[in-house]
Amino acid sequence: MTRIFSGVKPTGHLTLGNYLGAVRRWADVDQHSADALFCVVDLHALTVDHDPGRVRRLSRQAATLLLASGLDPKLCTVFVQSHVDEHARLSYLLECVASDGEMRRMIQYKEKAARERTRGGSVRLSLLTYPVLMAADILAYGTAEVPVGDDQTQHVELARDLAVRFNQRYGHTFVVPRATHPVVATRVMNLQEPTSKMGKSEDVGPGIVYLLDEPEVIRKKVMRAVTDSGRDVVYDPEGRPGVSNLLEILAACESGNPEGLAGVYESYGSLKKDTAEAVVELLRPVQERHSELCADPAYVEGVLRDGAEKAREMARPTVDAAYRAIGLLSPA
Ligand code: TYM
Repeated sequence: MTRIFSGVKPTGHLTLGNYLGAVRRWADVDQHSADALFCVVDLHALTVDHDPGRVRRLSRQAATLLLASGLDPKLCTVFVQSHVDEHARLSYLLECVASDGEMRRMIQYKEKAARERTRGGSVRLSLLTYPVLMAADILAYGTAEVPVGDDQTQHVELARDLAVRFNQRYGHTFVVPRATHPVVATRVMNLQEPTSKMGKSEDVGPGIVYLLDEPEVIRKKVMRAVTDSGRDVVYDPEGRPGVSNLLEILAACESGNPEGLAGVYESYGSLKKDTAEAVVELLRPVQERHSELCADPAYVEGVLRDGAEKAREMARPTVDAAYRAIGLLSPA
């Protein structure tokens, strides 16, 4: 059975982008069709300025939201990255295979490091090595497919490169993974700034729909979305990023296609109204299930405990094999 691994980083509240680009597919498709692991990658949240209490709260919330979105621990493994030592163990070995130039070329590193510097802060070394830890997350499990949004493509490419390089140098150890993306909404854009990704970590504000936003808040955010100067509804992500983003979101909610939907609408107003309602209805069951699960924290904790135990067993043989292959003595 195909092994799938993916993760979400608790640096902010989960957004509609996370849901449409990744989480929904994990629940609707991946957990049914593969041997799948889904992870709250909390170590990654330490790569930028962070508040320890907030990371803890967001990690718990992210895990609860994954379950509320339909991940079923009977079908897949849900766990927290820092509960499984194999990620950090393997990351070091992969640092010995990656080059610093490769790390400095990563787009997300360049963007985030520039942002930290403009704020006058220092850039954590872990921000530079982040993609190696991500490669370790993936390679430790013999992962074949990594379902992610478009923004993670370069990181998954790096995981591929490192797997191939390690295998060539030290003997076949890792499965070479590949990224998979949703057909629509692979990059949901900020509603106020439709040329930038709707990202949870860096921004706050009216352009981001959070999974736990109240229906009225969602309606307001969508109705105030920036559209483009034209008046007709056309799907043209380059020329008309605002309206195209709404069409993508609506298409993703209704399992339609954005070009087809463009022909249905004569005004931005009616497109926004339908998109707002579609998002409210899409998120309603997730929000309901989230409040039920919040009333039962012991259940969520139990899922994470069992998940970590299963994940550890899955990762250990591959990571141990990598330790041997690279030249380290096995403990007596
Ligand atoms: P993160 O936490 O930023 O995002 C989690 C998932 O959501 C997708 N996503 C989006 N998709 C469409 N439109 C958007 N606006 C949008 N924003 C986010 C992301 O592509 C991702 O699939 N580095 C990863 C976490 C990670 C990981 C891994 C993923 C760590 N280790 C191993 C896969 C495998 C990240 O920061 O995702």
